[in-house]
Amino acid sequence: MPRVDLSVDLGGMKLRSPLVTASGCFASGREMSEFIDLKKLGAIVVKSMTLKPWAGKATPRMAETSSGMLNAIGLQNKGVDHFLSTDLPWLTEQKVPVIASIAGNTTQEFMQVAERLRSAPIHAVEVNISCPNLEDRNNMFAHDPQSTSAVISAVRRMVDVPIFAKLSPNVTSLTAIAGAALEAGAAGLSLINTVMAMSIDVDSAMPKVAGVVGGLSGPAIKPIAVRAVFEVHQAYPHVPIIGMGGVMDARDVIEFVLAGASAVALGTVNFINPKAGHEILSDLGQFLSSRKVGSLAAMRGQVKVEG
Ligand SMILES: Cc1cc2nc3c(=O)[nH]c(=O)nc-3n(C[C@H](O)[C@H](O)[C@H](O)COP(=O)(O)O)c2cc1C
Repeated sequence: MPRVDLSVDLGGMKLRSPLVTASGCFASGREMSEFIDLKKLGAIVVKSMTLKPWAGKATPRMAETSSGMLNAIGLQNKGVDHFLSTDLPWLTEQKVPVIASIAGNTTQEFMQVAERLRSAPIHAVEVNISCPNLEDRNNMFAHDPQSTSAVISAVRRMVDVPIFAKLSPNVTSLTAIAGAALEAGAAGLSLINTVMAMSIDVDSAMPKVAGVVGGLSGPAIKPIAVRAVFEVHQAYPHVPIIGMGGVMDARDVIEFVLAGASAVALGTVNFINPKAGHEILSDLGQFLSSRKVGSLAAMRGQVKVEG
């Protein structure tokens, strides 16, 4: 079988695999390392961390729907200091690039988390702006260009590593939000976070998650995510994009790359098959070699559209 190059350049980071983990779907990798050799992943994007530990929402927090998974976890995490003292030293030993996902309820909080990460051995920061902004009637930062810009520029002042802004699909103009993030100093974009959704148990008439509404993930959202990556790539062709949303197999990865993704994150699939990162990587190699394509990176943005 001819050799296939699956490595990718993600905003200057050379990743040996195009597959990274989606934040919140792989914790910090410790549990998953029992199933999968972490070195085979391009990078680990850890669960979003906040300044202080967050307890998360009441249970139930997850529900299966007919075509995707609904979650309302509420960003439960042990805080940035726990990440620095416990998770990061372990991850550094695994010799896999680490992307630290950060979250907060105010611009100041994002800035404080970023400040703590300033001299940490991480490769990039992913800024999860799909959080309620307490200073703006709980509107998500990612739903407003000004709030997006404020958070990204605050984080930019604190860290030297590349910043990826993780955007929400629940907006009218994704390219406007993407533009605000890039202008404020994001080196790249992560697309997409979950799609706002709701599911009701008709026997009890209760919402299926205690948070009432939640985020939908999995195959149901893939076409929404592919559209998002395509639109943003068309608007900003030189900007690296981590594409995600419903990736289940190698063909899904190719779809995101054709739309314009530089790397692809695996989320919900990890809950179904913790070895997905290995299996999809091997299938990707076979897919490309059977079509005599030497490099995945060469397929980026190559969807054939007229005009
Ligand atoms: C249980 C769960 C927890 C998540 N937690 C986070 C999180 O902490 N930070 C974040 O940016 N995205 C979080 N996400 C969103 C995923 O990273 C990803 O953007 C989304 O699930 C779409 O990808 P998928 O369909 O492959 O899961 C979470 C998703 C799920 C299902």
